[in-house]
Amino acid sequence: MTRQRVLSGIQTTGYLHLGNYLGAIRNWVEGQSHYDNYFFLADLHAITVPHDPKTLAADTYTIAALYLACGLDLQHSTIFVQSQVPAHTEFAWLLSCITPLNWLEDMIQFKEKAVKQGQEVGTGLLTYPVLMASDILLYEPDKVPVGEDQKQHLELTRDLVDRFNYKFGTPEKPVLKRPDPLIRAEGARVMSLTDGTRKMSKSDPSELSRINLLDPPDVIQNKIKRCKTDPIRGLVFGDPDRPECNNLLTLYMILSNQTKEAVAAECQDMGWGQFKPLLTEAMISALQPIQEKYQAIMDDRSYLESVLRDGREKASAIANKTLAKAKKAMGYALPL
Ligand code: TRP
Repeated sequence: MTRQRVLSGIQTTGYLHLGNYLGAIRNWVEGQSHYDNYFFLADLHAITVPHDPKTLAADTYTIAALYLACGLDLQHSTIFVQSQVPAHTEFAWLLSCITPLNWLEDMIQFKEKAVKQGQEVGTGLLTYPVLMASDILLYEPDKVPVGEDQKQHLELTRDLVDRFNYKFGTPEKPVLKRPDPLIRAEGARVMSLTDGTRKMSKSDPSELSRINLLDPPDVIQNKIKRCKTDPIRGLVFGDPDRPECNNLLTLYMILSNQTKEAVAAECQDMGWGQFKPLLTEAMISALQPIQEKYQAIMDDRSYLESVLRDGREKASAIANKTLAKAKKAMGYALPL
């Protein structure tokens, strides 16, 4: 029996943080042996916001190394760089020509990011979901693991499949395959350390709001020391008036590998002064093996390059095949 295919990616803007790890990569790693996986570095999406050409390549390598350090296994997973497979941009153009403008204008993420950039907002921010649809559809995956915030983009992708197939296929012979979302399990939504009602995010201007996977122990300690709490003694899960408390307890539970019941019992009479060192310790120990592995990978640049070269070849073979099929359906003369 052939295994189902899974595809996902992360935008290579800034550092990977604990939210990326617990919310996405850790799930990829846990599920990888059941699927045929493709995980890529979305460095074309990275330039939809102003970017620094001096750090773009290094950031991409760093995140690739972190994918490996977090446990992606090349036996099950192919890792590649989006900008190194030209089919992504070519197919995105073809798809953009059948995407109604108002679909894109209605995207929540576009509206939120556009407000922040005012007059400067680039066309790429608007067409971001079309490139994302291209990323996905080229590989004909069965499942696409994404966070809540990307669900709308996946729905647009599915709508685009129907539109494309209606225009250029037949009901018996659809051209593109419609993927299913794989929305991550509850409990993995990591919130900001400075505001428990907001997601931990790369775009938060405050470094104190997130733990980066490569933060050294003293930085972790300082961020936990200064994170937002509340004046109440006795720590509990799930109190809607105490979002920070729920987030920090959940982090502690996951990072120390304990059950919810065990943590609830351990912390029910605790104050923050007693809890924070425990959380700090759990976080440092959980990140230490990832950081060590990351360092070993970065020390062997040729290994990392060979991983990405192999990934590019494998990905290109699949992507080019789907692209050719789509172009043919649209009526293009393919080169002989
Ligand atoms: N937009 C996604 C994010 O920022 C990254 C991404 C780009 C992606 N293309 C994708 C995720 C295709 C899944 C599938 O998180």
